Amino acid sequence: MDTCILKVDWSDVGQQALEKAAKIIKDGGLVAFPTETVYGLGGDAKNSRSAKRIYRAKGRPSDNPLIVHIATISQLDEVAEDIPEYAEDLAEAFWPGPLTLILNKNRSVPRHTTGGLSTVAVRMPDNEIARELIIKSECLIAAPSANASGRPSPTTAEHVKADLNGRIDAIIDAGPCEVGVESTILDLTTDVPTILRPGMITKEMIEQVLGRVIIDASKSEEESDDKPKAPGMKYKHYAPKASLTIVEGRPARVASYINSQIREGNLLGLTTGIIASEENRKRYGGDFVKTIGSLEDEKEIAHNLYSTLREFDDLKVDRIYSESFDNLENADAIMNRLEKAAGHKVISADKVSISRIIFAGKNGSNRSPMAASILKTMKMDKNYEILSRGILVQFPEPLNPKIEAVLKSNGIEVEDYHAEQLKSEDITPTTIVFTMEESHRDRIIETIDRANEDNTFVLTKYVGNELEIPNPYGGSLQLYGLCFESIKETLNSLVNVLDQEG
Ligand code: TXA
Ligand code: MG
Repeated sequence: MDTCILKVDWSDVGQQALEKAAKIIKDGGLVAFPTETVYGLGGDAKNSRSAKRIYRAKGRPSDNPLIVHIATISQLDEVAEDIPEYAEDLAEAFWPGPLTLILNKNRSVPRHTTGGLSTVAVRMPDNEIARELIIKSECLIAAPSANASGRPSPTTAEHVKADLNGRIDAIIDAGPCEVGVESTILDLTTDVPTILRPGMITKEMIEQVLGRVIIDASKSEEESDDKPKAPGMKYKHYAPKASLTIVEGRPARVASYINSQIREGNLLGLTTGIIASEENRKRYGGDFVKTIGSLEDEKEIAHNLYSTLREFDDLKVDRIYSESFDNLENADAIMNRLEKAAGHKVISADKVSISRIIFAGKNGSNRSPMAASILKTMKMDKNYEILSRGILVQFPEPLNPKIEAVLKSNGIEVEDYHAEQLKSEDITPTTIVFTMEESHRDRIIETIDRANEDNTFVLTKYVGNELEIPNPYGGSLQLYGLCFESIKETLNSLVNVLDQEG
C-alpha cells in the first residue's frame, strides 16, 4: 500500500487534503493525524474492521484498547452511557485538551475498539485539524498513538512515516505536536477517579475540579502484581533502539558517572548517546550529547522527549544515558515515559560508591604503600579493597627500608611487599586512585586508559588541602617520620569524606 502524505496548514483547515483524509476514514481506511499530544492513527471508531486494521498496522496486541476522539463535548453521549455529572465538569474544564476519560461504553461502540472492555476511553483533542477531520469524516475517530507498537510515540509526521509507511492509507503532516507526551488517562468508572496514565493535566489540576483523585499503583509499580487497569501500561513502551539507562543524583555525580561510561564505551568500541538538560549540558563529554530542554521548562522537555529518543535511533548509538528529570514540578508524565523507555533501568549516581582505593606513586615502593598500609589500619564505615601501585615499576622492588622502619615504629607491619605496575584493568568503575603529586596524577590520566579526572585525584586536594604530601626520598629517617604524620593526617580527613559519601 502506498501511504500518501497530505500537507495541511494550521491556518487553513478547510482545504482539500483534509477532505481527502476524511473520506479515507469514512470508507474504513486509516489516516495518521496530528493532535496536541502526539500523532494518532485514526480509523472509524464504530467500524470494527477499522479497529482491526489499526491493530494490524501498529503490530499492537488487540487487547489494548483505543481512544475515541470526539470533536464536541456533546458527542460524548454517542459512545458512553451512565456518564457521571462530574465527567461534564472535567470536560468543561479541560476539553479540548490532553485528558482522556474512561467511561462505560454504549452499545454502538464495537468491542474491537475497546479491546474487549465494556468501558471506552474518550477525549476531545486540542487541535483544530484533528477536530475538523472528525467533523468532516462524520465519524468519531478511534486512534492510538501512530507509532509501531513499542516504539516512542510520534510527534512529527516524519516519525509516523518512519514506523508506518506502506502500512496505512495516509499521513496528515501539520508539523510537530505541541505537548509531546500523551494525554492523562482518568478512569471515572471506579469509586474514586483514578489516574491510569500521568500526563500534562496533573493530579492537582484534576483535584481542583473533582476533589479526591488517586493514581493507579500498578501504573507506577511495573513490578507490582496488580494487573494494570489501562491494558496498554503492561506492554513495553516508547523504547529507542539502543538500551537506555536513567542516571539520577547530584548533577556532578551524574555527569561523572555518565562520563566514565562514555570512556568505558570508547574502550569497548561502543558509541554512547547522552540526554542532557540545558543546565548540565556542558558537564558531558562525548560526541552524542543532545539537549532536551531546560530544567526550568518542563513543557519543553516533554515536547522534545520522543523526538530526542528517535534522534538517537538515527545516530545508531549503541546505548543511551539520560539525566533523570524527577525534580521537575510535574515530573510524573515525563518520568513515566522515560522510565518505560529505559525498561526501568535507573541508576543512582549518588549511590555508586567506591569499593577499591589505589594509592599510586612513581615506583610503588615509597609513599603509596605507606598510605595503603596506614589506611588499612583505620576504621571506616565500609570495607574497601586498598591497593598500592607504581607508575613506572621496572622490577618488583620491596618496600623502601626507611618506609618499613617508620611504619614498624608506628606498630604497622607490612609483610612481603613488592611494587606492582598500575594497569588499566586495576581501575574498575568503582575505583578511586590517589597520588601524592599533581605530576603523577597527570601522568596516570595521560597514560592509563581507564584513568580520568573523575576517578584519579591528588590525595591532599581530594580532601580539600592545597599542600601536597612531602617527598622524603633520600632524606633522613626523621623526614620519613614527618611524611608518615602528614599522610596519616590526610587519611583521617579522607576517612571522613568517604564515610560521608557512603
Ligand atoms: O494523547 C493521547 O492519548 C494519544 C493521542 C493520539 O490522542 N493517544 C494515545 O493512545 O496515547 P494509545 O493507544 O497509545 O494509548 C491509549 C492508552 C492505552 O494504554 C490503553 O490501554 C488505554 O489508553 N485505554 C484505552 N481504553 C481504555 C479503557 N477502556 N480502559 C482502560 N484503559 C484504556
Ligand atoms: Mg501509544
